[in-house]
Amino acid sequence: MKIAGIPAGERKNGLIRSALVFGACYLVMLAFLFIAVVINDVSSWTVYFTENFSEPLSLIVSVFLLFCVIYFYFMFDDPAFLVKAGNVVLTFCILLVSVVLCYLFGRFVHIYARPLAVFAFLALFLLGRRHALFLNFVFSFLMFVIDLFTNTFPTSELNNAIYSSFMLSFISGTFAVFLSSSAKTRGGLLLSGVFIAVPTVIVVLLFNIPELTYNWIDYVSAAGFRMFGCVVAAVLALSILPVFEWGFNKLTVFRLRELTSTNAALLVHLKKEAPGTFNHSLIVAQLAESCAVAIGENSELARAAAYYHDVGKLKQPECFTENQTDYNVHDEITPELSADIIRSHTKDGYELLMANRLPKEIADIAREHHGTLPIKYFYDKAVRYSGDADIKDFSYLGPLPHSRISAIIMISDAAEAATRASADRSPERVERICRDVIEERMDLGQFEECDVTMKELSVIKQTLVEVLSGVHHHRVQYPAIRFNRDRQAVPKEEEDESRSH
Ligand SMILES: [Fe+2]
Ligand SMILES: [Fe+2]
Repeated sequence: MKIAGIPAGERKNGLIRSALVFGACYLVMLAFLFIAVVINDVSSWTVYFTENFSEPLSLIVSVFLLFCVIYFYFMFDDPAFLVKAGNVVLTFCILLVSVVLCYLFGRFVHIYARPLAVFAFLALFLLGRRHALFLNFVFSFLMFVIDLFTNTFPTSELNNAIYSSFMLSFISGTFAVFLSSSAKTRGGLLLSGVFIAVPTVIVVLLFNIPELTYNWIDYVSAAGFRMFGCVVAAVLALSILPVFEWGFNKLTVFRLRELTSTNAALLVHLKKEAPGTFNHSLIVAQLAESCAVAIGENSELARAAAYYHDVGKLKQPECFTENQTDYNVHDEITPELSADIIRSHTKDGYELLMANRLPKEIADIAREHHGTLPIKYFYDKAVRYSGDADIKDFSYLGPLPHSRISAIIMISDAAEAATRASADRSPERVERICRDVIEERMDLGQFEECDVTMKELSVIKQTLVEVLSGVHHHRVQYPAIRFNRDRQAVPKEEEDESRSH
């Protein structure tokens, strides 16, 4: 049995491995908390462990239980995420970096200057909104537990700050997730840092009303530091995100934007070396983006995946029709060799993308976008030449599409190529082409490993017809006249004739 595309045995091993990684991460977190306790009271930190033993014990047990909560959440909600140890390490790194930054700002700037929303920002863009919301809840408890059971804030004056830490972390993080989830630019993320300051400053002012009566300067400065903490959270998230994107090869909306910029290195190379493939990819991107929007998928990822789906053709661009002019290399080689060159562009694309450290999601789609489909043209050529041919030698090597976006790219790619090759591009003909493309792939079992539904395939087909009909719409015939210098209309043939004399 397979769960989320992972065989049962592999899933069990993955969960055990992740539990061990969680254990190691827990020990690292305890080590950091120990260092923090020592720094807080360098001369007599041993007192913390000897005189009031219940506090360190409460801290150790509470942090352990919170780590268990995170593990169980992923185990039941997203086991496919959990079985990859890299995801566990990423989640822990976001947690640790956020705790360390909050500690440093709280200890050396001001308790209210802590960038509490940095965790929510990082989790949102690296793990997604659903996980970010839950993890921010756990992070808020973690901050509260750390404040309560360490010697970070021993003075009684700061009790309000300690007890407001859960509220502040929760409010800052939740607002950060909702306000920045539609941010498509780094500027948008920065702006949401300013907006989340409003609710958290209100919390600070409410929790410190007693202070207003005897020290209004501290009261106002607490609000000022809180505002500073929110903006700093956004700035820090912006600075740290590229490190995580690169270190864990993770996709964020910002990275997708950069990858689809016309200045992206591989796209510049594709435009120069294989202009036909580049233009084809642009249209596939337009189709795939519309289809992704229509079925509620990640349209940014669909667009990026379409841009890069054929980069494997860069190895031998002249072997692909869209880059050829008069000379066709396939006229001089056997159909078997031709098919071999054509089908290797999926594997070559995957290797090129991985070598250039592009996100694995995009590389996987490049490898899957022809599934195990036959290369009909060269199979037919081989049969005509030798009377017989093994279809296996004329089929792509797979794997089959594993995601709905991968299925979208497979269909959009074929629909674009078939429409371009057709002399008749009327809406009726385009509709027929798109239907044939989808039905042929269903008959050949190309969607068996992805969770695309019949209803979604129908929506994809309808979207493709609409967009392709727009791309290849019928153009009005221009009248055959020109205007001379006196701005008088002259029939085109007549004017051409007069110019030739
Ligand atoms: Fe391709
Ligand atoms: Fe293609």
